Amino acid sequence: MADVATLKIGETEETLPVITGTEAERAIDISKLRGDTGLITLDEGYVNTGAVASSITYLDGEQGILRYRGYPIEEVAKHCDFVETAYLLIYGELPTAEQLEHFRHSLRRHTLLHEDMRSFYNGFPRDAHPMAILSSVVSALSTFYQDSLDPSDPEQVEISVLRLMAKLPTIAAFSYKKSIGQPFHYPRNDLTYCENFLQMMFAVPTEPYELDPDFVEALNLLLIVHADHEQNCSTSTVRMVGSSNANIFASISAGIGALWGPLHGGANQACVEMLERIRADGGDVAKYVNMAKDKDNPFRLMGFGHRVYKNHDPRAILIRATCDRLLAKMDRTDPIFDIAKELEEVALKDPYFIEKKLYPNVDFYSGVIYRAIGIPIQMFTVLFAMGRLPGWIAHWKEMQASPSKRICRPRQVYMGPTERDLLPLEER
Ligand code: CMC
Repeated sequence: MADVATLKIGETEETLPVITGTEAERAIDISKLRGDTGLITLDEGYVNTGAVASSITYLDGEQGILRYRGYPIEEVAKHCDFVETAYLLIYGELPTAEQLEHFRHSLRRHTLLHEDMRSFYNGFPRDAHPMAILSSVVSALSTFYQDSLDPSDPEQVEISVLRLMAKLPTIAAFSYKKSIGQPFHYPRNDLTYCENFLQMMFAVPTEPYELDPDFVEALNLLLIVHADHEQNCSTSTVRMVGSSNANIFASISAGIGALWGPLHGGANQACVEMLERIRADGGDVAKYVNMAKDKDNPFRLMGFGHRVYKNHDPRAILIRATCDRLLAKMDRTDPIFDIAKELEEVALKDPYFIEKKLYPNVDFYSGVIYRAIGIPIQMFTVLFAMGRLPGWIAHWKEMQASPSKRICRPRQVYMGPTERDLLPLEER
């Protein structure tokens, strides 16, 4: 196949290089197009624009494939825990037993927050959304660790990575404790990553807290399936902020803001709210499917559709199976899980959803599991952020290390007024 593309602009022909990825994906390199022709490309929402060549995650939306560093998500979920997955994403290879133990040990040593950080929590209104708190406190890490903000110093980056990975669960759990007026529960370094998070969320000083191994396993899976998803909105935000050489805390804090939106990570909260609404409205699933199809109605089925997946979302399949298993084990039914399954069934048979290739995405069932393990709805997107953290870090590091790194600075086609005379205020 030709490794160049020819673009005809009027009478001139422009030859553009074609880049081929390791999975035979092909892209036209237009980086010199403006210099050579004066033209730019226009692609709102970056629907067809590759912003980077990356070696972290491979996605095939047509076939429903997701691989971290070459390993299928199903295999990673089967054989690794979240910390091992994080290592794989951040450092590029699966760890040896020794490397993994060293990584776990390093994370355990950084779980505490600086005591002065606790006072931030008193400044937030009690009903503040925990995503706002998460983003603010992560940004504030750069005020406490001013000795390690240089993106070009690998040692400073490494310590910041460990601090972020170790402290995010503590920051997140404290935001929940604040919202319900309970005392902060300190991390316990004898526990695993997921166990520690659950005890910081749910333990109280007045009675012992018993960890449920099923909850730990479910949380572990959810964090793994969220761990990376190549150039999504929040990861692209992290890259964009980091491209100006902003420090890693500032970059991740911005990514948390991007994740919060209901079209991205916020969809898990929005999805459960939608399922609750359907239930309160008598459980008429067809009515909501029709609303989603109505062009004049802004309502969308939350947890449905994906920019890239046009066949199935492999993460949704893993999560749905865990949902089934967990609820059966707990001998529990959840009416919104039943509504979710019915909604999926109706939508998947509907020509609108079939034609537009809209399938349940990762957020469709994750909320049901979070509910089952007692996570309050406002914390759903925070859990997504905890899962996505290693992916953000991996992309930030990959970008900093890239010899071709440049500040991200898209162009535009200007559609505003052409030059005009300015009338002074008294003459307007
Ligand atoms: N319900 C009803 N119609 C939909 C839906 C939906 N959930 N999603 C897309 N469509 C329709 C949309 O109206 C459009 O129709 P038309 O071509 O007639 O204008 C067509 O399908 C294409 O949609 P789009 O908005 O142009 O597609 P996109 O790639 O820009 O958006 C999306 C992708 C995920 C934002 C969108 O599918 C959506 O809003 N889904 C609901 C929110 C959601 O679940 N988000 C979580 C995404 S997965 C987790 C993550 O990565 O954050």
